[in-house]
Amino acid sequence: MKKEFDEENEWLKVKYQKDVGVNRIGDNMTKDKLCMIDLFAGIGGIRLGFEGAGFKCVFSSEINKHCIETYKANFGEVPYGDITKLDANIVPNHEVLTAGFPCQPFSICGHQKGFDDTRGTLFYDILRVLKAKKPSAVMLENVGHLKYHNKGKTLKTILRHLAELGYKVDWQVLNAKDFGVPQNRERIFIIGSQKRFFDFDKLEKTHGRPIESILEESGNFEYLQPEEYTLIETPRRQKSGLVFVGYRNKSIRKVGVRPNTNHLSRAHKQPNRIYSAKGTHPTLTSQEPTGRFFILHNGRVRKLTITECFRLMGFPEHFKKVAPKAELYKQAGNSVAVTLIEELAREIKRQFFFNYKEISRKPTTLVVE
Ligand SMILES: C[S@@+](CC[C@H](N)C(=O)[O-])C[C@H]1O[C@@H](n2cnc3c(N)ncnc32)[C@H](O)[C@@H]1O
Repeated sequence: MKKEFDEENEWLKVKYQKDVGVNRIGDNMTKDKLCMIDLFAGIGGIRLGFEGAGFKCVFSSEINKHCIETYKANFGEVPYGDITKLDANIVPNHEVLTAGFPCQPFSICGHQKGFDDTRGTLFYDILRVLKAKKPSAVMLENVGHLKYHNKGKTLKTILRHLAELGYKVDWQVLNAKDFGVPQNRERIFIIGSQKRFFDFDKLEKTHGRPIESILEESGNFEYLQPEEYTLIETPRRQKSGLVFVGYRNKSIRKVGVRPNTNHLSRAHKQPNRIYSAKGTHPTLTSQEPTGRFFILHNGRVRKLTITECFRLMGFPEHFKKVAPKAELYKQAGNSVAVTLIEELAREIKRQFFFNYKEISRKPTTLVVE
């Protein structure tokens, strides 16, 4: 392993010693590690994935006090607070800037205000850091729906700004269920480097696995009583891998529902739906502080535990969950699939930093006007 790193370092020196300009690739490597920064860090899901791929985190920023609490317990560091107050020049040099910036302005759950919403300007804080520090590469994460927002103009704006800073940028919507966790979670990844486009086709995908593979064997489970739910007669596996099996007997949507079709799943709000542990879980959201994620397992319906929610996000078992319970459910839903990030980080390292031989390709998925 050590030998491999030495060879990689040697290659970096040779390849880039003639480069001029700020922040040459490999300049910021601390011993044998490439450096990254973790903006909008949350509880550090992106950092965990990058560390798993051998990166070193040299800076983080997060504003929420409960996230900071969890971050400190796990990484022994208190992130810088409000990024809008950050003097970008104090950020240490790094090779990769990462940011899972807040999705509200772009999300279908929000008010679709986009960059007119002040929160949307947080993207411009990312740009400030990129301009000041000129890292070799950037990886942004957001909700999958970002690509449709404002008829695609929002994404185009993001891509254009990054291209103006000299990054070759491509993007793709990836699903956590293809990367080792049983959760149907689509997120957009926007990846750029000063050298070449990122080739998403090189990512190694895994076979899907069922929810039951991550369940705790025993515990203080919160079961529903049989009168609290209804199971449907013929559950079917959906294309997404979800197996809808029933619903909790409450809050049935009446408007727009045809007579005698109440049993159909679309009549039931997402949090009231029950899915089989034999299938994939729907997206964990941050809007569920009471953790209303119910599964049918071994003939009984119960809530997912916090540990199970973190497993659905691909977090390691040793991850410390120190915030109040409601916050932990939110934190899990707000975070990233760590296994997916780790695969991305491995490919970022391979394609952007270590002797990637492939002839540089043009992105197939984007057009920047
Ligand atoms: C989608 S979450 C990112 C989650 C993160 N990727 C993780 O693994 O947990 C966005 C985060 O940005 C933080 N945030 C929002 N505004 C901020 C600001 N002005 N400065 C720093 N962090 C901010 C939120 O508190 C939230 O935790």
